Amino acid sequence: MDIDNDADLTVRRALFEQVRRHTGIAMNERKWVMLKGRLRRRIMTLGLPDYGDYLRVLATSAEEVRDFVDLVTTNETSFFRTPRIWDYLARDFLPHWAANRAGETLRVWSAAASSGEEAWSTAMLCEEFRARHPAMRYAIVGTDISDGILANARAGHYVGRSMEGLRQQRPELVQKYFRSDANGIAVTEPLRAHVSFRRHNLYDVPRELGQFDLVLLRNVLIYFDLEGQKAVLANVRRAMRPGAVLIVGESESLSRVADGFAFEQPLIYRNLERQPGAQA
Ligand SMILES: C[S@@+](CC[C@H](N)C(=O)[O-])C[C@H]1O[C@@H](n2cnc3c(N)ncnc32)[C@H](O)[C@@H]1O
Repeated sequence: MDIDNDADLTVRRALFEQVRRHTGIAMNERKWVMLKGRLRRRIMTLGLPDYGDYLRVLATSAEEVRDFVDLVTTNETSFFRTPRIWDYLARDFLPHWAANRAGETLRVWSAAASSGEEAWSTAMLCEEFRARHPAMRYAIVGTDISDGILANARAGHYVGRSMEGLRQQRPELVQKYFRSDANGIAVTEPLRAHVSFRRHNLYDVPRELGQFDLVLLRNVLIYFDLEGQKAVLANVRRAMRPGAVLIVGESESLSRVADGFAFEQPLIYRNLERQPGAQA
């Protein structure tokens, strides 16, 4: 078979199954053209004749699984995506935090961090707030399932649309927290001291991440089916302190999927006091 020919239904289904198995992302026939587009070049690079052969490689190579995960995930993001959320954090969340929890370290989880713009945006916001509240301490953990995109997040080096977007929206923050080089802009030390990135699959119980006061789980639930969303939210809640805030993406809502969260305002939820499995 030629790679330009379509895979038959059985192979397509097996590929969707591999996507689900390794990422939890739900795909079906409607996503085939997209998936095919993403895999085609990789299969050609490997010199394989068709998608069926690629499935065999995937079954035996952990390295290939890593590349596969990088390919099948959608990493679109930007600095200060959805301005309303950042207004809420600056005007409501952080001042409340400072008033009630002074002396503690604010722990934030960017739970589908992609190339890091969300985590670095949070760090800039916290740093700006800290200039007016010097006692404030904070730590931000960014996680993602894709090793490839996490390498970009750690590098903190931005070009193209990401950089232009930030320059247009918040030029003063670019001046303060980035240095420019020939190609783009790179995050500087004051932010780096507070931000770390690590691989984490949202389908796994977050045992080693600790407890968070604020979780950004944005624009990732949309890739999971209802059961997947429920499982992920139950896991995420395990890493949230009672009263912690959860923020989801613009086209996401917890109404059908999550127990244990109270609606605060659109996209913003609060973890109720009792943790799953706790004694009544
Ligand atoms: C569209 S980006 C969202 C980035 C950012 N949160 C935002 O809203 O701009 C979705 C990210 O979720 C990640 N992702 C997909 N499935 C995941 C899983 N099972 N566990 C952890 N991250 C996952 C992808 O790798 C991708 O980087």
